[in-house]
Amino acid sequence: MTPLHMAHIHAAAFTSARPWSADEFAALLDNPHVFASSQPQGFALVREVAGEAELLTIAVHPDHQGQGIGRVLMVQWMDRVRPTASEAFLEVAADNAPALALYTACGFGQAGLRAAYYPRANAPAVDAVLMRASLG
Ligand SMILES: CC(C)(COP(=O)(O)OP(=O)(O)OC[C@H]1O[C@@H](n2cnc3c(N)ncnc32)[C@H](O)[C@@H]1OP(=O)(O)O)[C@@H](O)C(=O)NCCC(=O)NCCS
Repeated sequence: MTPLHMAHIHAAAFTSARPWSADEFAALLDNPHVFASSQPQGFALVREVAGEAELLTIAVHPDHQGQGIGRVLMVQWMDRVRPTASEAFLEVAADNAPALALYTACGFGQAGLRAAYYPRANAPAVDAVLMRASLG
Protein backbone atom coordinates (compact mmCIF):
# COMPACT_ATOMS: atom_id res chain seq x y z
CA MET A 1 0.00 0.00 0.00
CA THR A 2 1.39 3.42 -0.95
CA PRO A 3 1.74 6.35 1.49
CA LEU A 4 -0.93 8.17 -0.55
CA HIS A 5 -3.40 5.30 -0.18
CA MET A 6 -2.66 5.23 3.58
CA ALA A 7 -3.33 8.96 3.81
CA HIS A 8 -6.70 8.53 2.03
CA ILE A 9 -7.84 5.75 4.35
CA HIS A 10 -6.53 7.58 7.43
CA ALA A 11 -8.37 10.79 6.53
CA ALA A 12 -11.62 8.87 5.92
CA ALA A 13 -11.33 6.84 9.15
CA PHE A 14 -10.21 9.54 11.60
CA THR A 15 -12.93 12.15 11.87
CA SER A 16 -11.96 13.70 15.21
CA ALA A 17 -8.17 13.82 14.79
CA ARG A 18 -5.83 15.50 12.32
CA PRO A 19 -5.26 13.20 9.33
CA TRP A 20 -1.66 12.26 8.57
CA SER A 21 -0.35 13.29 5.15
CA ALA A 22 1.18 11.01 2.50
CA ASP A 23 4.55 12.68 3.21
CA GLU A 24 4.25 11.85 6.90
CA PHE A 25 3.51 8.20 6.08
CA ALA A 26 6.42 8.09 3.62
CA ALA A 27 8.79 9.54 6.25
CA LEU A 28 7.64 7.03 8.87
CA LEU A 29 8.10 4.13 6.43
CA ASP A 30 11.64 5.32 5.70
CA ASN A 31 12.50 4.40 9.28
CA PRO A 32 13.91 0.85 9.21
CA HIS A 33 12.14 0.13 12.53
CA VAL A 34 8.71 0.94 11.09
CA PHE A 35 6.55 -1.34 8.93
CA ALA A 36 2.98 -1.51 7.68
CA SER A 37 0.63 -4.49 7.70
CA SER A 38 -2.06 -3.94 5.14
CA GLN A 39 -5.26 -5.21 3.58
CA PRO A 40 -6.85 -3.50 0.56
CA GLN A 41 -9.21 -1.48 2.82
CA GLY A 42 -7.00 -0.81 5.83
CA PHE A 43 -3.57 -0.85 7.39
CA ALA A 44 -1.66 -0.86 10.66
CA LEU A 45 1.60 1.02 11.14
CA VAL A 46 3.98 -0.39 13.73
CA ARG A 47 7.38 0.53 15.15
CA GLU A 48 9.54 -2.15 16.71
CA VAL A 49 12.62 -1.22 18.71
CA ALA A 50 14.63 -3.33 21.15
CA GLY A 51 12.01 -5.99 21.75
CA GLU A 52 9.11 -3.55 22.12
CA ALA A 53 6.48 -3.05 19.43
CA GLU A 54 4.28 0.03 19.29
CA LEU A 55 1.14 0.37 17.21
CA LEU A 56 1.45 3.88 15.73
CA THR A 57 -1.92 3.86 14.01
CA ILE A 58 -4.52 1.52 12.56
CA ALA A 59 -7.32 2.46 10.20
CA VAL A 60 -9.98 0.67 8.17
CA HIS A 61 -11.94 2.62 5.58
CA PRO A 62 -15.39 3.44 7.03
CA ASP A 63 -17.11 1.68 4.11
CA HIS A 64 -15.47 -1.57 5.23
CA GLN A 65 -15.49 -1.34 9.03
CA GLY A 66 -17.19 -4.04 11.06
CA GLN A 67 -16.18 -6.77 8.60
CA GLY A 68 -13.28 -8.24 10.59
CA ILE A 69 -10.50 -6.35 8.77
CA GLY A 70 -9.25 -4.56 11.89
CA ARG A 71 -8.89 -7.88 13.66
CA VAL A 72 -7.01 -9.38 10.68
CA LEU A 73 -4.61 -6.41 10.72
CA MET A 74 -3.99 -6.79 14.46
CA VAL A 75 -3.23 -10.50 14.04
CA GLN A 76 -0.96 -9.73 11.06
CA TRP A 77 1.28 -7.23 12.83
CA MET A 78 1.32 -9.04 16.17
CA ASP A 79 2.36 -12.29 14.45
CA ARG A 80 5.09 -10.43 12.56
CA VAL A 81 6.72 -8.94 15.68
CA ARG A 82 6.21 -11.94 17.96
CA PRO A 83 9.55 -13.61 17.07
CA THR A 84 11.53 -10.52 18.11
CA ALA A 85 9.33 -8.50 20.50
CA SER A 86 8.20 -9.54 23.97
CA GLU A 87 5.65 -6.78 24.51
CA ALA A 88 3.46 -4.44 22.53
CA PHE A 89 2.06 -1.02 23.40
CA LEU A 90 -0.51 1.37 22.00
CA GLU A 91 -2.46 4.47 22.93
CA VAL A 92 -6.16 4.99 22.32
CA ALA A 93 -8.67 7.73 23.08
CA ALA A 94 -10.90 6.75 26.00
CA ASP A 95 -14.02 7.52 23.93
CA ASN A 96 -13.01 5.22 21.03
CA ALA A 97 -15.19 2.22 21.95
CA PRO A 98 -14.61 0.19 18.74
CA ALA A 99 -10.82 0.44 19.05
CA LEU A 100 -10.85 -0.29 22.81
CA ALA A 101 -12.98 -3.40 22.16
CA LEU A 102 -10.69 -4.53 19.34
CA TYR A 103 -7.52 -4.12 21.40
CA THR A 104 -9.01 -5.85 24.43
CA ALA A 105 -10.10 -8.75 22.20
CA CYS A 106 -6.50 -8.94 20.93
CA GLY A 107 -5.02 -9.32 24.41
CA PHE A 108 -4.25 -5.70 25.36
CA GLY A 109 -4.96 -4.42 28.86
CA GLN A 110 -4.82 -0.93 30.33
CA ALA A 111 -1.32 0.04 31.50
CA GLY A 112 -1.82 3.75 32.19
CA LEU A 113 -3.81 6.88 31.47
CA ARG A 114 -2.86 10.33 30.16
CA ALA A 115 -5.52 12.73 31.33
CA ALA A 116 -7.08 15.14 28.81
CA TYR A 117 -4.55 14.10 26.15
CA TYR A 118 -6.52 14.28 22.89
CA PRO A 119 -7.95 17.72 22.03
CA ARG A 120 -11.50 17.75 20.65
CA ALA A 121 -13.18 20.52 18.68
CA ASN A 122 -15.85 22.26 20.80
CA ALA A 123 -15.58 19.62 23.54
CA PRO A 124 -13.31 18.80 26.48
CA ALA A 125 -10.09 16.93 25.72
CA VAL A 126 -10.29 13.15 26.02
CA ASP A 127 -8.03 10.89 28.10
CA ALA A 128 -5.52 8.62 26.36
CA VAL A 129 -5.56 5.01 27.53
CA LEU A 130 -2.15 3.33 27.35
CA MET A 131 -2.47 -0.38 26.64
CA ARG A 132 0.05 -3.22 26.80
CA ALA A 133 0.06 -6.82 25.63
CA SER A 134 2.56 -9.54 26.42
CA LEU A 135 3.62 -11.33 23.25
CA GLY A 136 5.30 -14.27 24.97
C1 LIG B 1 -10.82 0.53 15.14
C2 LIG B 1 -10.93 -0.04 13.72
C3 LIG B 1 -9.52 -0.16 13.12
C4 LIG B 1 -11.57 -1.42 13.81
O1 LIG B 1 -11.57 -1.99 12.50
P1 LIG B 1 -12.80 -2.89 11.99
O2 LIG B 1 -12.36 -3.55 10.73
O3 LIG B 1 -14.03 -2.09 11.93
O4 LIG B 1 -12.92 -3.96 13.18
P2 LIG B 1 -13.41 -5.48 13.05
O5 LIG B 1 -14.58 -5.56 12.15
O6 LIG B 1 -12.22 -6.33 12.75
O7 LIG B 1 -13.90 -5.75 14.54
C5 LIG B 1 -13.03 -6.39 15.45
C6 LIG B 1 -13.52 -6.12 16.85
O8 LIG B 1 -13.44 -4.72 17.13
C7 LIG B 1 -14.54 -4.34 17.97
N1 LIG B 1 -15.40 -3.43 17.23
C8 LIG B 1 -15.32 -3.10 15.92
N2 LIG B 1 -16.25 -2.18 15.61
C9 LIG B 1 -16.94 -1.93 16.75
C10 LIG B 1 -18.00 -1.05 17.10
N3 LIG B 1 -18.57 -0.23 16.20
N4 LIG B 1 -18.42 -1.03 18.39
C11 LIG B 1 -17.85 -1.82 19.32
N5 LIG B 1 -16.83 -2.68 19.04
C12 LIG B 1 -16.39 -2.72 17.78
C13 LIG B 1 -15.26 -5.61 18.32
O9 LIG B 1 -14.62 -6.16 19.48
C14 LIG B 1 -14.95 -6.48 17.12
O10 LIG B 1 -15.04 -7.84 17.40
P3 LIG B 1 -16.42 -8.63 17.14
O11 LIG B 1 -16.77 -8.38 15.69
O12 LIG B 1 -16.06 -10.05 17.43
O13 LIG B 1 -17.41 -8.03 18.09
C15 LIG B 1 -11.85 0.84 12.81
O14 LIG B 1 -13.06 1.04 13.50
C16 LIG B 1 -11.27 2.20 12.46
O15 LIG B 1 -10.53 2.35 11.48
N6 LIG B 1 -11.62 3.24 13.25
C17 LIG B 1 -11.20 4.60 12.96
C18 LIG B 1 -9.73 4.79 13.23
C19 LIG B 1 -9.39 4.47 14.66
O16 LIG B 1 -10.08 4.84 15.58
N7 LIG B 1 -8.25 3.75 14.83
C20 LIG B 1 -7.75 3.39 16.15
C21 LIG B 1 -7.05 4.55 16.77
S1 LIG B 1 -6.25 4.11 18.30
